[in-house]
Amino acid sequence: MTDKPYLQLALDYFDLAPALAMAQIVHREVDIIEIGTPLTKAAGMLAVKTIREMCPDNLILADIKSPDVGGGEAKMAFDAGADWMTVLGAAPLDTVKLALEEANSRPGKEMFIELTGIRDIITRARDWRGIGVERMVYHRGWDEGNLSRSWDAQDKDTIQELIQMGFEISVAGGLGLDMIPFFEGLDISVFIIGRAIRETPDPAATARKFQEAINK
Ligand code: 5RP
Ligand code: MG
Repeated sequence: MTDKPYLQLALDYFDLAPALAMAQIVHREVDIIEIGTPLTKAAGMLAVKTIREMCPDNLILADIKSPDVGGGEAKMAFDAGADWMTVLGAAPLDTVKLALEEANSRPGKEMFIELTGIRDIITRARDWRGIGVERMVYHRGWDEGNLSRSWDAQDKDTIQELIQMGFEISVAGGLGLDMIPFFEGLDISVFIIGRAIRETPDPAATARKFQEAINK
């Protein structure tokens, strides 16, 4: 990780073609390109491979949110060219362990715990830390963001506690430019932005605005 937080563009598409078009437009403005969860289901590892080839200078995260077969799914993502992949926080500890082993056996590869839907985060985080997990995506899921949950002070407290436990934290979930100051004072490693970049008239210019905001 560098001193400045990274900016990650989430490509949450249901088809490969628009994802490739968006990657082409924005990849120079962001540090990390995420193959979003729906895209990993729609186009699988072809999406990872194609975007890896298109964007050789970006880190690539495959947001698989693996629930089981963690070692196999991590291997599949890394073989396709992903640098990073995610395992669902609800997955058994053995699944996390096997994905982590696969990542640790290959230089530069990382696995992240994905916290969508997890409520007893700190209790579980102790187990994850105990087996050597270092990174997680603190995520307010799409559906809960749309229907029932906003970011609040409790999220900040939990993120701070996770950082104190030694985790590198990525944050995601309906973040717009207006939300960046909310994280001030927290040592966030990666800001993950999807719709607030993709769904603007000039996504490359919007990505530059995010870079400015997170560097402030
Ligand atoms: C959904 C995801 C998204 O990639 C994440 O929520 C970021 O996208 P957005 O900024 O549009 O919320 O993992 O499960
Ligand atoms: Mg995602």
